[in-house]
Amino acid sequence: MKHFITLADLPHFDQTLDLAMVLKKNPSQWDGLGKGKTLGLLFFNPSLRTRLSTQKAAQNLGLHTMVMNFSQESWALEFEDGTKMSGLRSEHVKEAAAVVSQYCDMIAIRAFASLSDKEKDEAEIVLRSFAKYASVPIINMESATAHPLQALADAITIKEYQTPHKPKVVLSWAPHPKALPHAVGNSFTQMMGHMDADFIITHPEGYALNPEITKGVEITTDQEKALEGADFVYTKNWCSYDHYGQILKTDDQWMITPKKMQLTNNGKFMHCLPIRRNIVAADGVLDSPNSLVIQQSKNRIYSAQAVLKQLLENG
Ligand code: CP
Repeated sequence: MKHFITLADLPHFDQTLDLAMVLKKNPSQWDGLGKGKTLGLLFFNPSLRTRLSTQKAAQNLGLHTMVMNFSQESWALEFEDGTKMSGLRSEHVKEAAAVVSQYCDMIAIRAFASLSDKEKDEAEIVLRSFAKYASVPIINMESATAHPLQALADAITIKEYQTPHKPKVVLSWAPHPKALPHAVGNSFTQMMGHMDADFIITHPEGYALNPEITKGVEITTDQEKALEGADFVYTKNWCSYDHYGQILKTDDQWMITPKKMQLTNNGKFMHCLPIRRNIVAADGVLDSPNSLVIQQSKNRIYSAQAVLKQLLENG
C-alpha cells in the first residue's frame, strides 16, 4: 500500500479488520514501530474525532505528530498547473507537498467536498495533488468522496456486535439543515461490500448516491420497510448527487425515532458523529443502550492504527 486514499488501497480488508481488533486488545503492542518518525496531520476542515483518534493511534505506535489547520494557519494553496498566481493563493501544492514531505514520514489530510463542482470534487484535487507531489504516503482523513478510516471503524463496530445470523444492515438517509457531502455514505457502502451481511440503502427520491458506488446494492425509498428486521441502522445525511450540492428535502419525516427503531430486530443505531439531535435522530434513539455512536468513535483509534502500522511496515 503506497497511499491510503480509499478502502480499495488496502491490500487485504479482512486482515486489516483482524489487525484492528488485535490492536484494540493491546494498543501498545507495536509501540516502537514509529520511533523517530513523524505523522503530519493537515486539516483543511474542522474535526474532533478524526484529529484526536489519529493522533492517539500515532502515539500508540510511537510516532510523533505535527498538526496544522491548513485552511487557517498556512498559505492558501494553488492546485492548478501552469496558472499565473496573481490572486489570493500564495503557494503551489508542488512546493507545499514537497516541503511537508521533508518534515513528515506520512501525511494525513482532511479536505472536504466543495459541493459546488462535482467534477473537481470527484477528481479529489487536494489528496491526489499531495499524492502526486509528496514523496511520502498520503492518508485520507475524509476527502471529497471518501471517509475510509470512518468506514473501517464502522466495520470493527459491526464485527464487535455481530449477530448469530447474517445481519441486516440499513444505511438510511436523514434530514439535515446543511448540505453535507457523500463521503461517509460512499465509504460505508464500499465497506459493506466486504461484509457478510444483507445490506440495503434507503433514501428519499432525488438522494441516490453515486450509482457507480451503489451498483448491485438494494435501494428503496420506503424507509420503514427497509428498517423492518434490521440488526444495524446506520444513519447519515447527504445532499443530492444528481442535483449536486442541493438540499431537496428538509422535513423531519426521515428522522430516526424510537418508534422507527421498534420496526427493527432490536437493531443497533450507528452514526459517524457529529450528529444533530432531534433532526437526524431523536434523543430517545441516541440515549438508548442500542446506540453505538460512542463505541464507533473509539474504534476510530484502531482503524487509524491498523492503517498507520501497515504503512510503517511498508517502509
Ligand atoms: N466522524 C468524524 O469524522 O468526526 P470528525 O468530523 O469530528 O472528525
